[in-house]
Amino acid sequence: MLVHRPRRLRRTPAIRNLIRETNLSRHDFVLPLFVSEKIESSRPIPSLPGVCQHSLDEISQVAADAHEMGLQAILLFGIPRTKDEKASSAYAGNGVVQEAVREIKRRTPRLTVITDVCLCEYMSHGHCGVARVDGEHFDILNDESVELIAKTAVSHAEAGADFVAPSDMMDGRIGAVRVALDQAGFNQTGIISYAAKFASAFYGPFREAAESPPQFGDRSSYQMDPANAAEALHEVELDLAEGADIVMVKPGLPYLDILWRVRQRFGRPTAVYHVSGEYALIKAAAEKGLLDERSAVLEIMTSLKRAGADFIITYWALELMQWLRG
Ligand code: PBG
Repeated sequence: MLVHRPRRLRRTPAIRNLIRETNLSRHDFVLPLFVSEKIESSRPIPSLPGVCQHSLDEISQVAADAHEMGLQAILLFGIPRTKDEKASSAYAGNGVVQEAVREIKRRTPRLTVITDVCLCEYMSHGHCGVARVDGEHFDILNDESVELIAKTAVSHAEAGADFVAPSDMMDGRIGAVRVALDQAGFNQTGIISYAAKFASAFYGPFREAAESPPQFGDRSSYQMDPANAAEALHEVELDLAEGADIVMVKPGLPYLDILWRVRQRFGRPTAVYHVSGEYALIKAAAEKGLLDERSAVLEIMTSLKRAGADFIITYWALELMQWLRG
């Protein structure tokens, strides 16, 4: 007797293309850029092979070239000349990010500029907020930090940022930034919230790139515990309620489950940051000939999209634009 049994599709290349559930596009990526007030010309970052810090003179050219290649958005980080205990350079009208944004928007108005809003690069102690130090012990003062973060966000908006992206993880900062922006007349400036940002070892190479390692302690009092998923969803819910337009999960691959749940539960625009350590480990493996960089990166980006990311912040954004051409 002939029995019908389920059979699998014969996967010819055409069928593979036709039934592919997740498609990467050249429009899926945002490129992080570092601009430093301390250098005259581009300086390679040893911990991030292929990534540079750029000078204020060069940054608008770099951004224009990226836009020319088809890139739609950048995420800007600043490295100031001076740091202090109040992060004064973070919200200075002529601060490094403010100057860079003005120059980039003047030259390439159609490139979307997202600014990372944080205090760690501007604080002499390298923490993301105001610190009260008492001998061995230190506290990060939430409300004092939020005030400076809101001030920084407004100064970025004044310079012409399209989106501000608070990455500090203080409580209540999205609401405070929204109110401050609106009061200053920037109700068109959007907020991308680093909503579920975990205290991660994978930020290691970035801290060299941004010259922002904490001088004492770590960030686990304000960043999330990698063990907590329910808490991550709660953080996202709060940020959305406070006015975030887009929420972000960070890092990427170790948190695919979080990304999936955030996208499923809230159905709101969701970004993922494939961070410096995730980048560095693939680069290191590829340099040793242990794997093929391009295939590995395309597979990772596909998995991030499959898990729910609407877009991906990645140091490979420019290479991806080329790989996905045609
Ligand atoms: C600033 C900030 C960090 C990253 C983005 N914004 C570092 C940190 O929180 O220590 C990490 C990005 C990366 O690793 O690529 N708070």
